[in-house]
Amino acid sequence: MKVDVLLGLQWGDEGKGKVVDVLTPKYDVIARFQGGPNAGHTLEFNGEKYILRSIPSGIFQGGKINIIGNGVVLDPLLFRQEAEALAASGHDLTKKLFISKKAHLILPTHRVLDAAYEASKGAGKIGTTGKGIGPTYTDKISRNGLRVGDILHNFEEKYATAKAKHEAILASLNYTFDSKELEAEWLSALDYLKRFNLIDSEQVINDYLKEEKSVLAEGAQGTMLDIDFGSYPFVTSSNTICAGCCTGLGVSPRNIGEVFGIFKAYCTRVGSGPFPTELFDETGDKICEFGHEFGSVTGRKRRCGWIDLVALKYAIMINGVSQLIMMKSDVLDTFETIKACVAYRVNGEEVTTFPYEINEGIEPIYVELAGWNTDMTKMQSEDEFPEEFNNYLTFLEEELGVPVKIVSVGPDREQTIVRYTDN
Ligand code: GDP
Ligand code: IMO
Ligand code: MG
Repeated sequence: MKVDVLLGLQWGDEGKGKVVDVLTPKYDVIARFQGGPNAGHTLEFNGEKYILRSIPSGIFQGGKINIIGNGVVLDPLLFRQEAEALAASGHDLTKKLFISKKAHLILPTHRVLDAAYEASKGAGKIGTTGKGIGPTYTDKISRNGLRVGDILHNFEEKYATAKAKHEAILASLNYTFDSKELEAEWLSALDYLKRFNLIDSEQVINDYLKEEKSVLAEGAQGTMLDIDFGSYPFVTSSNTICAGCCTGLGVSPRNIGEVFGIFKAYCTRVGSGPFPTELFDETGDKICEFGHEFGSVTGRKRRCGWIDLVALKYAIMINGVSQLIMMKSDVLDTFETIKACVAYRVNGEEVTTFPYEINEGIEPIYVELAGWNTDMTKMQSEDEFPEEFNNYLTFLEEELGVPVKIVSVGPDREQTIVRYTDN
């Protein structure tokens, strides 16, 4: 069997959690391959709402195996909070959640470093989630990191060395902090981690593939936040793209199957950085209001704008997307016209490929389509789609060159329409 990958094509929050949950019944194993508690994946079903940060979104559909892969960075304290909250609502994960020994640990001082680096950048700050993501991946790459497997051997010494290095950096930045209380809780959370199966996940996943078990890999963030191909430096610190699944789970590129690329019918971004189609007018406010565009983890207001096909095509190319999934279609239900950016004007020239610099100098060139003025939230099948909605889908498929296989018309698990396979 091969690993199917589901990942975001925009700046995150496309609705990955919802769709992973919907697709889970078709798979034996769900695995996260990168990112950490900077993610906030929302799932809604049976009138309940859950927000997952580090735990894969396959935990609610029967006894599927869920894996936190080696490419993830894990904060034991936030993980314990997340797992305990789930246990309190009747979802005990100890038997079905496995954690890679090679996943890196987010230390309390990583979070402090995240805040210190942001403060030192002033107006140029990235607007991180403050979860210590960048500093933890920095330590991984510079070979100073601590991994989950380290908690089983000689941990105190390794921890003291890492902490001393962080304290020296913070002193050099004149950054004062007191993480004593946080540290005590964090250390106690390490023991909680030991209740879970700490595994060599690359071996386990490859064994599953040999046994013909199906695996769905769940991405976090989105392609435009990728460390290599996103809007650098306003990105996260991991490879959010399909290739990140290979390194983040130990899966060969030859074992990648379908690549599901997920996008909103419009576009959002949270934090700083360029966003060519951002709207600063009442249309942007309306998208924000109707789409409830506030960060699931930080509560920050998300910036809103029209769909950007230049960026989407780039993301599809980088990931080799084989099927598209369009989310939040219902949010545009009451718009008379809908715009889609098909090119940028840069220094007077029309550009259709994603440029190196995306800054204020970029002017989006739009195509305008008629809105559908129909309540999409009750739709059960694509036969019910209004003509204008079908026109929007056809337009996107022609522009992007990949079929839209799933359409989401509301936050609930049930508000998901799988289109006919011959589309
Ligand atoms: P993720 O990080 O990609 O999993 O996405 P988030 O959970 O951060 O953000 C997506 C938000 O949109 C969540 O609040 C979802 O409940 C909600 N959502 C998902 N699909 C739809 C949809 O089709 N329509 C509407 N109105 N909301 C949706
Ligand atoms: P999900 O998985 C949206 C953004 C932050 C910031 C930048 C770097 O829910 O889609 P970091 O804390 O990673 O160093 O922040 O990336 N960011 C996200 N934006 N959705 C996310 O995750 C994000 N994770 C990080 O806002 O701009
Ligand atoms: Mg999110």
